[in-house]
Amino acid sequence: MGNDSGKREAGTRSRKKRRKYVAGLAQLHFQVEDDWSKEEACQLYKDAVHPVDTDNILYVDAIQAMKELPDACIDLVIADPPFGIDFRGKESQYNRDPGLVEDGYVEIDENYESFTSRWIGALPRIIKDTGSAYLVSGWTNLKDILIAIEESGLHLINHLIWKYQFGVFTKRKFVSSHYHILFVVKDEQQYFFNKYEYYPEDVWIIPRTYMAGQKKNGTKLPETLLCRFLNFSTKPGDLVLDPFMGNGTTAVCAKGLYRHYVGYEINDNMAGIHDNNLSKVKIGEFYRPLNEYLPSTEDLLEKYPHLRKHVEN
Ligand SMILES: C[S@@+](CC[C@H](N)C(=O)[O-])C[C@H]1O[C@@H](n2cnc3c(N)ncnc32)[C@H](O)[C@@H]1O
Repeated sequence: MGNDSGKREAGTRSRKKRRKYVAGLAQLHFQVEDDWSKEEACQLYKDAVHPVDTDNILYVDAIQAMKELPDACIDLVIADPPFGIDFRGKESQYNRDPGLVEDGYVEIDENYESFTSRWIGALPRIIKDTGSAYLVSGWTNLKDILIAIEESGLHLINHLIWKYQFGVFTKRKFVSSHYHILFVVKDEQQYFFNKYEYYPEDVWIIPRTYMAGQKKNGTKLPETLLCRFLNFSTKPGDLVLDPFMGNGTTAVCAKGLYRHYVGYEINDNMAGIHDNNLSKVKIGEFYRPLNEYLPSTEDLLEKYPHLRKHVEN
């Protein structure tokens, strides 16, 4: 008896010893689980078969168009709907040259709550069991998005904050300088998630992109943000849906990362901008194997010099 408990204590001590925490060590050994060379990614892109025509943007109402999609055909939805704040993209407070903002940004005329519940309600049927969605929202109508997610049966996995560098100047309130991004999945047990950072936090600090002198609709999301959605939540060759294409940024990033896309935009004035933006990007142009995004051993040794003995051994 006495001997047994002695052995147990020794066992516990040695287990504790084995588990001693060394700052940075797990990160040093971290590898991305699913990764593809550029050639492999290109082949997956070419070989992919989807039950819909891909790599096009239709100038139609997204809610109607989603009804035409087959069941379970979409790997990832990226949706940045109109925010329901009567943003027409030309207000002087946004400090933009109105001549460079494309006409016809379509805001929501119906009640925002019912619009939101209709488009989010359409998602579970068309998303694959392994699929997911990133839904972008300002704070003013966030509650409608959250209610619609809950009613749709999608599962909320993370509430991300995208912090950008500055917002519109205010006198009697704080300046809004963030968006909310709801990361939701169809099936909590089966969703694809490719962790390509050791410690991916839920606050993302990413500057807005400025395209000085170029014509655009005034609500463009940065490519860096969309490429993160694509890299974390899809494989090369997968199919991405953006129901509210705006400037077509999702299409540009999908094409540049060997992903296929379908998308809708109700404002057909945007067609020229889409053609122009897409023509400037070659298929796979942005693609890098995910392990290349990890910090190098040298960078980690600079941050954690005590790890040197783990590298040399
Ligand atoms: C916030 S913007 C999207 C911006 C986009 N993420 C980008 O990076 O350029 C929303 C877009 O949805 C479009 N839209 C509004 N109602 C729509 C509908 N029912 N179907 C399709 N597009 C719609 C608007 O015209 C606008 O271009």
